[in-house]
Amino acid sequence: MISKKMPLIIGNWKMRLSAKESMILAKEIKASPKATAEIVLCPTFTSISDVAQVIKENGIKLGAQDCFWEGQGSYTGEVSAHQLAELGCEYVIIGHSERRKIFSETDEMVHKKVKMAIAAGLIPIVCVGETYEQRQNGAKDFTIMQQAVKAIEGVELGVNSKIVIAYEPVWVIGTGQAVNPDDAQEAHRIIRQAMFDIFDPETIRNNFRIIYGGSVDENNVKSFTSQENIDGVLVGIASLKAKDFLGIINKA
Ligand code: PGA
Repeated sequence: MISKKMPLIIGNWKMRLSAKESMILAKEIKASPKATAEIVLCPTFTSISDVAQVIKENGIKLGAQDCFWEGQGSYTGEVSAHQLAELGCEYVIIGHSERRKIFSETDEMVHKKVKMAIAAGLIPIVCVGETYEQRQNGAKDFTIMQQAVKAIEGVELGVNSKIVIAYEPVWVIGTGQAVNPDDAQEAHRIIRQAMFDIFDPETIRNNFRIIYGGSVDENNVKSFTSQENIDGVLVGIASLKAKDFLGIINKA
């Protein structure tokens, strides 16, 4: 049995806040009493440095929302994993469904990004999840398994390398209506099982966390984090206001 760790709570601010708003929000979160959760804030690229200054030495961690798969070179507009690490990021979201859909990111691109993130010492937060159509067609389990395996298979993990997999059913993101916690628990079991085909049990226990994302709020968070297979949550809309996000942290 996998022991329950401190929940991981990640705020994905997407492209929603200005630099000033990001700093205000980070200050409000920092001012709250110490939480019994691992908290990660993922601001937009342009606010990462400012937020890093605000949360310095506070125990709150910093993440980015994407990175490129090459280390350096002529890649106009891209940001490397090493550049993010240089700014103090410890985490990076990879393969979010918005990137898969709007920017046509494939499983292969996601895989290359995961490799580069690990090489730079970052913890990738790999997003997987089915669309409503895939769910209706009975392809949910296959889709999430494929996405998770293709992202991670062949990635070399050092003893200290960590990976987070976020199960995010695409059709509930931003809708205010999360999936049933039993459904999420089952999806997590499937993902964990798929990882057992690639890594040994000890690696999975020590190096992997599998979290849930999709319309998490302070009223439903506990129903997810209390599930045995769910190690935390990835939060979008409800991470944009300190009151909502702190409510999630307190209830998790
Ligand atoms: P949501 O977003 O919490 O607004 O559904 C989650 C996400 O996109 O990661």
